Amino acid sequence: MSDTQRLILPNIPNLHEIDVYVKNGGYGDSMRKAFSMTPDAVTDEVKRSGLRGRGGAAFPTGLKWTFMPKGPDKKRFLLINGDESEPGSFKDRQIFEFNPHQMIEGMLLAAYAMQVRHAYVYIRGEYGHWIKMVQKAVDDAYARGFIGPKMLETFKPTGEGVPYSVDITVHKGAGAYIVGEESALMNSLEGQRGYPRVKPPFPANFGLWGNPTTINNVETIANIPAIIRIGAEAYSQIGEAKHPGTLLLGVSGHVNRPGIYEVPSGTLLTDMIYKYAQGVPNDKKIKMVIPGGSSMPPLRGDQLEGVKMDAESLKAVGSSIGTGGIMVMDEDTDIPSVLQRISKFYHHESCGQCTPCREGTGWLEKILKRVNAGQASQADIQLLEDVAKNIEGRTICALGEAAAWPVKFTVQRFPEEFAKKVSATREHLAPNKVHSLRQGGLEPVQINVPLIERN
Ligand SMILES: Cc1cc2nc3c(=O)[nH]c(=O)nc-3n(C[C@H](O)[C@H](O)[C@H](O)COP(=O)(O)O)c2cc1C
Ligand code: SF4
Repeated sequence: MSDTQRLILPNIPNLHEIDVYVKNGGYGDSMRKAFSMTPDAVTDEVKRSGLRGRGGAAFPTGLKWTFMPKGPDKKRFLLINGDESEPGSFKDRQIFEFNPHQMIEGMLLAAYAMQVRHAYVYIRGEYGHWIKMVQKAVDDAYARGFIGPKMLETFKPTGEGVPYSVDITVHKGAGAYIVGEESALMNSLEGQRGYPRVKPPFPANFGLWGNPTTINNVETIANIPAIIRIGAEAYSQIGEAKHPGTLLLGVSGHVNRPGIYEVPSGTLLTDMIYKYAQGVPNDKKIKMVIPGGSSMPPLRGDQLEGVKMDAESLKAVGSSIGTGGIMVMDEDTDIPSVLQRISKFYHHESCGQCTPCREGTGWLEKILKRVNAGQASQADIQLLEDVAKNIEGRTICALGEAAAWPVKFTVQRFPEEFAKKVSATREHLAPNKVHSLRQGGLEPVQINVPLIERN
């Protein structure tokens, strides 16, 4: 992709330094343009650009901003989600490292549009190096008068613009995947345990300390200066019409050149793997690809042809763009054991508030352990699907789906991988030696004991 199209991570050495950023137009045209517009006009520009959130759900960003109540006296917050803990996802840290000022400038523009006086960026606790880099960038921007009360002098409004200033605080995360969920993020920032809140009320009405709050992902917000600079029309022409712009797509797993690639939305998944990540080691075939981070439904290797990387195209093939973390697995991959590893993660990260998630994620992991230990029957594969279906839609937050989807869809799309493990079990067992422990299980079945681990 040419640099002019790289809106988020252009190939400019040392762009993380404020002098370099300013020399390349940072804190310049976009700020002057926005400060000559009314706040509502800035929101409208973002709405017309078609930008959709990059944090997982691809929700329209401008529309989300309109949910914030209006009124000069209302206290409001902007919270940037840099918790980035989804396995397979490592894009936001590239912004922290290579272009933190564009995220900060995006925060200033978003804050102006929603008339927010205090914005936070919450960064995953394990990202110690990047937290320091972002803090330095914020300090430098304060020193130059780009953030804080001096903004009133630095960016004097023209046209229909209004005088404006905002403060920014960098907050170190608590080291738990669940605090990436927006309401848990707010609890964590407030100093409480990172438990998701029951919704409604939604953050736009009852957010940080009970005040209206908008939560956006790091990559989402880094798009804003580009939108204001090139204009909504030009932005909406990049990539796919229903999910425009560039995307930071991570490619990891069995590829020759793993990494983050900025491409227009709608780029072919096969191009991501073979052109950008330079194919699979030893030219092996691909067995499975998870296109959007580990919580998204996987695709089979024979399903990849023609699949485009954008929200609508992936939905059409029964998956999701998620955070754009493409995980590639070659023909030698043991799919049930990968699934066990994924399930272990979600079981470990469940906050435990809802019974279907707390108990169900544990069941999934245990059943998968049995499958991989050669101790499962075909009924256990059905049980996996049943447990997954009973978690989905029955929980406070979407970690329920994040745990259920990989199981449900992997079992459905790779039945032969599971059948192999189950039939192997049968071969190894002497008939009639063990009997089902299930209630009503009068028929002898060839499975190992213990059927259910108790610990
Ligand atoms: C369990 C869980 C973890 C999440 N982790 C993140 C995360 O690390 N970063 C992120 O931006 N969004 C994460 N999300 C999504 C956020 O709740 C929220 O939708 C997002 O930050 C909104 O930003 P956007 O509209 O810019 O996409 C997570 C959601 C769930 C359910
Ligand atoms: S779904 Fe899981 S992680 Fe989310 S609130 Fe319920 S128990 Fe916690």
